[in-house]
Amino acid sequence: MRILAIETSCDETAVAVVESSGTFPEVTLRVLGSALHSQVAVHKEYGGVFPAVAKREHAAHIVPLLEETLRQAGMLQTEYKSLVGEREKFSALFSHEPGLADVLCMFLSRIAIPDIQAITVTAGPGLEPTLWVGINTAKALGQYWNMPVIAGNHMEGHFLSSLVREEKINGVELPALGLLISGGHTELVLMKEWLQYQVIGSTLDDAVGEAFDKVARLLSLPYPGGPEISKLAEKARAQNVESTFTLPRPMATSGDFQFSFSGLKTAMLYTVQKIEEMTDEHRLMLAREFEDAVADVFVTKVHAALATTGAKSFLIGGGVAANTHIRRELEKLVHEKFPEVTLYLPHLSITGDNAVMMAGSALMHLESGDMPKGGDIRADGNLSLS
Ligand code: KG4
Ligand code: ZN
Repeated sequence: MRILAIETSCDETAVAVVESSGTFPEVTLRVLGSALHSQVAVHKEYGGVFPAVAKREHAAHIVPLLEETLRQAGMLQTEYKSLVGEREKFSALFSHEPGLADVLCMFLSRIAIPDIQAITVTAGPGLEPTLWVGINTAKALGQYWNMPVIAGNHMEGHFLSSLVREEKINGVELPALGLLISGGHTELVLMKEWLQYQVIGSTLDDAVGEAFDKVARLLSLPYPGGPEISKLAEKARAQNVESTFTLPRPMATSGDFQFSFSGLKTAMLYTVQKIEEMTDEHRLMLAREFEDAVADVFVTKVHAALATTGAKSFLIGGGVAANTHIRRELEKLVHEKFPEVTLYLPHLSITGDNAVMMAGSALMHLESGDMPKGGDIRADGNLSLS
């Protein structure tokens, strides 16, 4: 089965075509085409994502990305079709983006229907104005190509991202614990039954990626701050620069699976304010100490969660799952304390927001015989996993 996925929940516009083969649970996924445009350069000057700007950017890039993805998949065949009667339907879907309706209409009128069986689109969580760009595009394609459109959950995409690889999935041993760490979320999720989720812990305030980004600003590092802090912290470790600063490990001993990162950010602010003149050496130490504090919190919480739930698999996903130190520390935890648990780490190309993970999760549902409920797809900024 082949599916086309569209992701526009935040500041990456992404399209992918993924193919599944085999019989569930022995399914193999293959990425046939994948194109992504990051808006980081646009949002850099504001130090964060502005929904109205993000929406405009998605609308400007989605059709070229669609074309590029189909081209990579070998599905871009020229075939001229009449659009009589179609334009009105498109305009109704894109009342806020007449320009996009025209561009999409023109594109579809000159290509043959691609060899795919369904379309999936992220319905939430995320920024509602940007989600709608993807949803309306997916609906227009579904209507025009006469194919089902399936609503996807962005967090499920991150949860399953480590399983989207070109080898047999072979069924994940359950229960499976997932640590979802991104710019918008920090969650511990339990999957007791295949594709059934229970959020057992989340952040009381900032998400971990948000904390990385805010702390990076305090250190005068560019946005997004996660990779910048990570680079400095790795450099500090390589050069044996030990931190003389101490930051808290928030909620590490709270006895539950909740997280909190705003106190850590405030502690960093006070620490930075006490430094008379910030040097590169200070930055190395602070980046290392901050990353150590975050990694310690994750190791403590995951340790407790694996022990309490008796999970047989542990999956990590989300933008922050690209962090070398966090990956290494969690790997060490599983290796030393839970050798019976299988650890799944996502490929670095799909830790951040992407459409490949969305295609993968829709295919896992479809291949498991779990046909999605029909009905109108609407953007839901707070869509939850449980
Ligand atoms: O999953 P994602 O692309 O978007 C959301 O759904 O939020 O995550 C983006 C977040 C940003 O906060 C970014 O700073 C962080 O992931 N990030 C990292 C690293 N790479 C990206 N944080 C720490 N270390 C990294 N290497
Ligand atoms: Zn995300």
